[in-house]
Amino acid sequence: MKFYNGYIKIDTKNTSLILYNDAGLLKKIYYGSRLNDGEDFSVLHQYDCTDSFTRKTVNSSFGEYDFRESFVLVQNGGKSFTNRFIFQGHRIFPGKPVIEGLPSSHGGKETVELLFKERDTDLVLKQYLTVFDDCDVIAAGSIIENNTDAAVDVCRLMSLQLDLDGVDYELLTFDGSWARERLMSRHGLKCGIHITDSKCGASSSYHNPFIMLNGKNTAGGCYGFNLVYSGNHKEIVEISPFNLTRVLVGMNDFMFNWRLEPGKAFQAPEAVMAYGADEQAVTSQMHRFVNNHIIRGKHAKKPRPVVFNNWEATYFNFTYDKLLALADIAKDLGLELFVLDDGWFGKRNGEDCSMGDWYANIEKLPKGLAGLAAEIRKRGMEFGFWVEPEMVSEDSELYRRHPEYAMRIPGRSPWLQRSELMLDYMNPEVRDYIVNVLSEAIESCDAKYIKWDFNRLMTDVYSPNGAAATEYFHRYVLGLYAVLDRLTKKFPEVLFEGCASGGARYDLGMLCFMPQIWTSDNTEACDRIFIQEGTLYGYPQSTMSAHMSICPNHQNKKSTSIENRFNVAAAGVFGFEMDFTECCKDDLDAMRRHVEFYKAHRELLTYGMYHKLYSAFSGDYAGWIVVSEDRQEAIATIAVIHSKTNFPYYRFGFTGLDPAIRYRVEMRNQSNVGRFEPFVAWGDLLNEKVMNFGDIFDVTDREKHSDSIATRMFYIRKDD
Ligand code: GLA
Repeated sequence: MKFYNGYIKIDTKNTSLILYNDAGLLKKIYYGSRLNDGEDFSVLHQYDCTDSFTRKTVNSSFGEYDFRESFVLVQNGGKSFTNRFIFQGHRIFPGKPVIEGLPSSHGGKETVELLFKERDTDLVLKQYLTVFDDCDVIAAGSIIENNTDAAVDVCRLMSLQLDLDGVDYELLTFDGSWARERLMSRHGLKCGIHITDSKCGASSSYHNPFIMLNGKNTAGGCYGFNLVYSGNHKEIVEISPFNLTRVLVGMNDFMFNWRLEPGKAFQAPEAVMAYGADEQAVTSQMHRFVNNHIIRGKHAKKPRPVVFNNWEATYFNFTYDKLLALADIAKDLGLELFVLDDGWFGKRNGEDCSMGDWYANIEKLPKGLAGLAAEIRKRGMEFGFWVEPEMVSEDSELYRRHPEYAMRIPGRSPWLQRSELMLDYMNPEVRDYIVNVLSEAIESCDAKYIKWDFNRLMTDVYSPNGAAATEYFHRYVLGLYAVLDRLTKKFPEVLFEGCASGGARYDLGMLCFMPQIWTSDNTEACDRIFIQEGTLYGYPQSTMSAHMSICPNHQNKKSTSIENRFNVAAAGVFGFEMDFTECCKDDLDAMRRHVEFYKAHRELLTYGMYHKLYSAFSGDYAGWIVVSEDRQEAIATIAVIHSKTNFPYYRFGFTGLDPAIRYRVEMRNQSNVGRFEPFVAWGDLLNEKVMNFGDIFDVTDREKHSDSIATRMFYIRKDD
């Protein structure tokens, strides 16, 4: 970071963000490829206008003659919203500041603090920008301090504002719902406002907080944005009639109003942004950022266990003996961790009861969690279990003892989802209960893994605990983070996996506590190709929990070969959830091979540099490759998703390989594929999409099931 001639130049290894102090207005004048130090940047801004729809700054507020969406909106004693934040100066320091009560990235190199004061009052706004050199990411934070002698209301405080030149951007968002999370949409933007947001108390499967702006003709390059937050979020892209694009990223101001007493501060969650030459570059930057600066603790950058989860094998309907029969086969297949999903606690045999009673159902588990875990460990596997600790059933011991723990509005019958109410995490007593009861359960069986689920959204927002309803959404998330902070610190060995009706809370906030997240309840290979491609735009493979399941698939009744199912699930953190006792010998043999292959290559599969080869969203086939850091080996998967009988003449190739290395290419041993002779070629040729792979994608008469997709996995390594 440098400061000269009024410019603040914030550099990562390959990018520069340049700000300019124009008599108290801090202008944003450049964000793109790295520029030389010492240049005179006046050509970038000297003719810029500073009012109305044309100013480019780092924080806009109502009252500045800027009528676009504001970065900050504060109501002064209920009397006015007019504020002008004047730049006072900056301070550069190593590392980054701690954000109290909120998760944030770690390991930042250097931070600049930008200080603003309201022109006529003592409201202070501080913004932080921290650089991460290794991944060309900048993290941004903001905090507002009320140094006046009266309370004010913070109606909006965003985390990041980026004003860009030009309007020729394509916006990429990742939207969906249960079983179709994070499907990528491209939006051509026109003059006006595009909002991506969540209002349901979680980051949600409806709209993920990760967005991209691909500058097409006039602008060039690509920008990625995300928010380290698990509650309501809002990403605003506003195209002004004066050829400017404004991006705002932060907490949603929907039903939000934070009363800030004199002497108090309010801090927004951290946002992150990256600039790269194209979408692939930004994806790589985000992957590196998440692996290096979001995931923490013992499991960061470490291989993850291959799990068996009993959910799709048994649902609620399991016995102790059935679990052991499954464990016997899991051990034989080489699995490493046995996960007991929903239905093990209270008197739970269905969705309608016992949420909150986190102690073993003795009818199903006569020797408790401890007895089962001991049997699992005898078989050489670790043990873990499922919980949904933010919920309570009306039919539960907890609710009977403490109805006041539930979030419900007096005088209104609550909206129930899955027969659940939410617990009031704003209440410290509730938080203590959850930490204690879960600690006991974890300690009782020495669990090494917890699947933390969240199966309903917030509707009955109300708190008897003092805070206004307009603060509740955020205070809930703060309460959740306080619980997660305590539990993850108390049990550093335990691998936590996030889950929310599938992947409805897949965000950087949860990833600060949980190194991996259940991607979707939809494990069907073809649908998963789309879900995983969308997820991988902003999040690395190491975070993406992906299981193989039975056919016909339980979600959509489609069938596909066991090889296809492995090839797709192996793109993430691999595991199984199916009734092994119903599987035939051929399938079990295939799965044993799969586990062996996955374990042999899991570091490459989960941490290799991911490149998209072909997008499922734009053609007949999808493809991806993961390449080791030294580019000596890679694994590529090509998936024909609209398979044709009598397969036509397609040309394929890879990407990301070193042109100066000669590689040997072989196909993973797949039972259902025609002849493929391993071959040797230089990386330059392999990186071109020119190879004819014969009839290996032809499914005519070949696949066991009537298949509509055909996937093939290639192992590529430096030829000796
Ligand atoms: C959610 C999860 C599933 C499973 C069930 C259990 O739907 O996404 O994986 O754990 O809950 O009720």
